[in-house]
Amino acid sequence: MINQENAPKNGKPLQVNVLRYDPESGGAPYWQTYTVPRRRASRVLDVLEYIQDELDPGLGYRRHICHNLVCHSCYVNVNGHARMTCQALIKPDVAEIRIEPYGDFVPIRDLIVDYAQPR
Ligand code: FES
Repeated sequence: MINQENAPKNGKPLQVNVLRYDPESGGAPYWQTYTVPRRRASRVLDVLEYIQDELDPGLGYRRHICHNLVCHSCYVNVNGHARMTCQALIKPDVAEIRIEPYGDFVPIRDLIVDYAQPR
C-alpha cells in the first residue's frame, strides 16, 4: 500500500525517518532515523510501538486508541500520504519510510497534532 522509492531489501531492517518536534525546546522540527527489525514492521503502528518501546520512549504519537479503524485518531502522513497507523501495511520489500504529522493541523509534539486546530 505504501509507495516506496528505494530498491527492495528483503529481510533487512526497515529505516524509519520520523519528523520530531518539541515545542518546549523552541527548536525547529528535525528528522530522526530509527532502524526497526523487519519482523516488527508489518504496520506503521507496529513500527511506532517498537520505536517507543525499544528505542525511544520519548517519541510522541497517539497510542492508546482503538487500533481498529474506529476512532480515526491515528492518522499520520507516511511518505507524504495520509494513513491510519493501525491500518497502513508496510510491504516486505520496502526499505525506508518517512512519517510526519498528519495534515495541516497545529503540532503538539512529534506526531501528535491538535485536530481541533487547523493551521
Ligand atoms: S487506532 Fe483508531 S482508527 Fe487507528
